[in-house]
Amino acid sequence: MGYQSLDVEPLAGAMGAVIHGVDLTAELSNQAFDEIHQAFLEYKAVFFHSQDLDPHQQIAFARRFGPMTIYPFMEGLPEAPEAFEILKTETDVRNFGGGWHSDMSFTTKPPLGTMLYALEMPDAGGDTMFANTALAYDALSGGMKDMLDGLVGIYSAALKRGGGRAKSFKAATAMSPKNMDQVEMEAEHPIVRTHPETGRKALFLGKGHTVRFKDMTEEESLPLINYLVDHCVRPEFTCRFSWGVGSLALWDNRCTLHFAIDDYPGQRRRMRRLTVEGDTPV
Ligand code: SIN
Repeated sequence: MGYQSLDVEPLAGAMGAVIHGVDLTAELSNQAFDEIHQAFLEYKAVFFHSQDLDPHQQIAFARRFGPMTIYPFMEGLPEAPEAFEILKTETDVRNFGGGWHSDMSFTTKPPLGTMLYALEMPDAGGDTMFANTALAYDALSGGMKDMLDGLVGIYSAALKRGGGRAKSFKAATAMSPKNMDQVEMEAEHPIVRTHPETGRKALFLGKGHTVRFKDMTEEESLPLINYLVDHCVRPEFTCRFSWGVGSLALWDNRCTLHFAIDDYPGQRRRMRRLTVEGDTPV
């Protein structure tokens, strides 16, 4: 199906599209929104440039996709608690999101999508990479697909392999973490999930949060988890988005992984993030 009211420019062969000519501060017609939604499902991540959005305008656009969900480990903005800022300052030694992951997979209902808005960008760098895990699933052999059928993963917020959440976030001093040591979240999900809107199967795992398979040890699970994530992020399944101040991205968290590239030492990058409520993966 084509796009009547939108100018949709694919970003790469695997996924991602830039949508031109839309002012997200204006009231979107139902047709324009339906086409954005269609592009979101088709390309799995949509991007807009040169937007001028305050938190309430960003939330209003995100709400067209569904209710907001709160990220449990960062303070929300005082004026809009649904949103929080991802900040790396000139002196911070690591960034937020610098590993291939799907957002909040350790919750029982991981978000449908994440909406990120660029407020400050380094002179160069700070791109985000995305991987299409439906395409990656399709490329697996029949034998591997059969083996993964029914396999359940354990997803944990503890970042066990990173040495613990509190330690991991100490470097991100400019952000406002909360609940780092108090909240322990863990969820079970199928490693292969079926997209509730498109019916396509996709791999659903990441190295940071998928700690093992159910009824298996970490030692038994990790080689296959690592193989599957490395497979998902093969270059031919990915796209890379270069932000400008005012760029907005919305990605489908149900069938993608993403990775914030940390290649701008000594410079600031500041983003505003929202997540849209999802359902229980099946
Ligand atoms: C995230 O993982 O949500 C952050 C991505 C980014 O900052 O590019």
